[in-house]
Amino acid sequence: MLPSLYVHVPFCVVKCGYCDFNSYVVDEGQAHDRFLDALAAELALRWPQGAKPSTVFIGGGTPSLLSLERLDRLFAIIRERGDLASCAEVSMEANPESFTVEKARAAFVGGVRRLSVGAQTFHAHHLKALDRAHDAEGIEGAFAAAREAGFENVSIDLMFGIPGETQEEWRSDLERALRLGTDHLSCYNLTFEPGTRFERDRLRGRLAPNAQEVDREMFEWTRRRLEEAGFAAYEVSNFAGRGGPCLHNDHYWLQGDYVGVGPGASSHRAGVRSTNLKGLDAWADAALAGVTCAGSAETLRPLQRVAEALWLGVRRTDGVDFDEVQERVYVDARSVFAPIFERQVESGLVSFKSGRLALAGEGLLLADQVGGDYLEAAL
Ligand SMILES: C[S@@+](CC[C@H](N)C(=O)[O-])C[C@H]1O[C@@H](n2cnc3c(N)ncnc32)[C@H](O)[C@@H]1O
Ligand code: SF4
Repeated sequence: MLPSLYVHVPFCVVKCGYCDFNSYVVDEGQAHDRFLDALAAELALRWPQGAKPSTVFIGGGTPSLLSLERLDRLFAIIRERGDLASCAEVSMEANPESFTVEKARAAFVGGVRRLSVGAQTFHAHHLKALDRAHDAEGIEGAFAAAREAGFENVSIDLMFGIPGETQEEWRSDLERALRLGTDHLSCYNLTFEPGTRFERDRLRGRLAPNAQEVDREMFEWTRRRLEEAGFAAYEVSNFAGRGGPCLHNDHYWLQGDYVGVGPGASSHRAGVRSTNLKGLDAWADAALAGVTCAGSAETLRPLQRVAEALWLGVRRTDGVDFDEVQERVYVDARSVFAPIFERQVESGLVSFKSGRLALAGEGLLLADQVGGDYLEAAL
């Protein structure tokens, strides 16, 4: 399988309270230009001229925050190195506060064919609590802009389990996204990530996560409702409508090789994982000096690779095919992890469907914990 390409655009209008992605609130044009200079330099160093990526994902941060001219330049930089013409999928993330018809057209002309609009919720009080820089009308405007520019595959990101959110509010968010005619949905259960404002507020007793039963009911209803609406749950948080699954994410979950460029982006090539320097300046200095941008690299041990194959694969509805994993990493997961599987099956967290390992029941809500058991055993 050819490697995929991930391009990280690390700028945001605000830092959302729940988000631990590597992003910076920097809106000076000079910083954006320097980012693009450095990106061109890193790609020249790391992506073979004219090579075809399996898939491309331009994410962040907020790629749509770049000005129209800079977006044009971003696409030119990517296309200068990689052959996107016959690439299976080129996706980009777009935020409602900064996405316009002009930017949507630029993305389309630049080769993007799949857009992911970060909505999170349509409720004004929840948008405010999340520190989002847009309103519900902005989401609808971004979606319409994508359609107007010719995009036939537009996905929407929503979050459920926002503190204080009711079942009715969540249901109305999902219904509103369906009414927009979305081609794919990502519905994430909000998590309190270390280092975020949400987590600090939780520790100080200012913010409380919803009861697990509340989240469970939202999750179960979501799966029922989306099945009824003709969406296929192909991963714990991802539902494919007309647009089909996100091929780029599926490539990750199946441990395909990928090259990540931009600050903090990670890459995986033939069992070696590297992660770029996280700081904007440190990363750009290295890229512009023509030296490696990697801050760390490790060769994954076979046991780590097989644990990661389970951790990633178990989230997919198709589950984990042990023979396929063994062909990839030369370890028989069935024997190595037998005691863990036994415990997880007994607790009703996973099941074996036609010889494949998949999440079941409560495990669907506890995917991180289930996957964490495999990673821990490989330490
Ligand atoms: C990192 S964002 C980047 C996309 C874009 N900047 C945006 O805000 O939509 C990708 C998605 O991850 C999800 N996400 C980020 N932090 C999360 C958290 N703590 N819990 C659940 N989902 C989260 C959000 O749904 C978001 O749309
Ligand atoms: S959720 Fe999106 S907009 Fe908000 S800080 Fe994270 S990357 Fe930026």
